[in-house]
Amino acid sequence: MPDGATVKTTMLEIRDLQAFYGESHVLHGVNIDVRQGEVVTLLGRNGAGKTTTMRSIMGIVGKRNGSIRFQGRELIGMAQHRIPRLGIGYVPEERGIFASLSVDENLMLPPVVKSGGMTVPQIYELFPNLKGRGTTQGTRLSGGEQQMLAIARILRTGADLILLDEPTEGLAPVIIEQIGVAVRKLKQRGFTIVLVEQNFRFAATIADRHYVMEEGHVVDMIPNHQLAQNMDKLHTYLGV
Ligand SMILES: Nc1ncnc2c1ncn2[C@@H]1O[C@H](COP(=O)(O)OP(=O)(O)O)[C@@H](O)[C@H]1O
Ligand SMILES: [Mg+2]
Repeated sequence: MPDGATVKTTMLEIRDLQAFYGESHVLHGVNIDVRQGEVVTLLGRNGAGKTTTMRSIMGIVGKRNGSIRFQGRELIGMAQHRIPRLGIGYVPEERGIFASLSVDENLMLPPVVKSGGMTVPQIYELFPNLKGRGTTQGTRLSGGEQQMLAIARILRTGADLILLDEPTEGLAPVIIEQIGVAVRKLKQRGFTIVLVEQNFRFAATIADRHYVMEEGHVVDMIPNHQLAQNMDKLHTYLGV
């Protein structure tokens, strides 16, 4: 795991990204940079293209053009199954916890792709809510516990870039707070994190920078320390 505090190289560089689902053209030239060790959010209204941007990185949209470079390697044109093996972990909005499997079984499911991943005891230390729940069936977990497990199982794999799609959606404030604590600890460990959020108050507590998306474009980039003076603009962008 690289030391996120000292390394400032660009890890992910997205240029003029276009994405399509069949005939429908959804992303119209997205540009995003993520430096090693950063936490960056994608903000924007429903349908702005946040999820599609993540799916484009993972190669799971119909078609994509432009450039997505991860640690200097071009992902456009790369076979879908190779992308996670480069060290990119994706936690989709729907979380994908297997109801019929136990917590431990869910945790062990994603294959280890690189050395340097977290150990199971380290993961349980990060998510105390899951500790001692190893034999609990996926179905018996609350929404918050499922979200924690969905993040937890990526951490074993050795991925150093983590994509989280709306990890706080539908969760109670106390659980959102716990997820915030975990994300901050992951940043301290050197993980690089891209986070889709609708809740910019939460985003402000964990992110270095915010990209704002509208109708398949990035329309703004706001450093976290400038969030306060950009509140009016953000309210307009997000319609909140
Ligand atoms: N599987 C799909 N097929 C066709 N259109 C889709 C599909 N998924 C999303 N879209 C459309 O793409 C646009 C962007 O969606 P999405 O990336 O999910 O937005 P966000 O995550 O910002 O809410 C929306 O107009 C949505 O209706
Ligand atoms: Mg979405």
